[in-house]
Amino acid sequence: MRKNIVAGNWKMNKTLQEGVALATELNEALKNKTVNCDVIIAPPFIHLASVVNAIDTEKIGVSAQNCADKPEGAYTGEVSAKMVASTGAKYVIIGHSERRTYYHETPEILKEKVLLALANGLTPIFCIGEVLAEREADKHFEVVKSQIEQSLFNLSKEDFGKLILAYEPVWAIGTGKTATAAQAQEMHAFIRKTVADKYGKDTAEDLSVLYGGSCNASNAKELFANPDVDGGLIGGASLSVDKFMPIIEAF
Ligand code: G3P
Repeated sequence: MRKNIVAGNWKMNKTLQEGVALATELNEALKNKTVNCDVIIAPPFIHLASVVNAIDTEKIGVSAQNCADKPEGAYTGEVSAKMVASTGAKYVIIGHSERRTYYHETPEILKEKVLLALANGLTPIFCIGEVLAEREADKHFEVVKSQIEQSLFNLSKEDFGKLILAYEPVWAIGTGKTATAAQAQEMHAFIRKTVADKYGKDTAEDLSVLYGGSCNASNAKELFANPDVDGGLIGGASLSVDKFMPIIEAF
């Protein structure tokens, strides 16, 4: 079901103690506040169970930042979707550009991760987005469409309807160079049409599509005001409550 969502991707930041403290502070900040969006936080794996136990999970959803592309077994260092679900987390980010780039996650690997996440009752937050060279070559629509087709179009209409998509232009991640509201709206509308062409207008209209890439207190309201932008996937600005709350309150 389509919702306004603000999700914080903590990436590889915060010790366990710092992470529990941040989650607890955010929980307090939201306790007696009415906001117009769903709030999700995505701490590192080692924080998940502790964070779930520290907050009101009716007010704040918890997400992993990744999961294995195998169900279980001799894969040293990996964390399965089943393990993520056992912590009480309800979401998992899949296909973040940093995973695609640094850890060479292919569309096929990501397809398997999505299937395992769904099989274990997790909601995938599936990331797509082009690099600067692709945008400068005017290939950004082609790239984003291919990312969706290669990893997600194997899904049934019902299973696709369980996804959240996050458009993250790679050139905007961590750079302070945010996509303009017009650029974001144009790509989000294209993503929704790509989905509509495959699964029908009802599935496309019911899909939450988040924007990520240097989203912050000063640009969130303008970004979120666009008809096809349903919220944000926030990196740096999610690491402190005083920076994250204004984004949550931008709806
Ligand atoms: O997943 C969200 C992240 O990639 C965006 O990072 O620091 O540009 O908000 P940031």
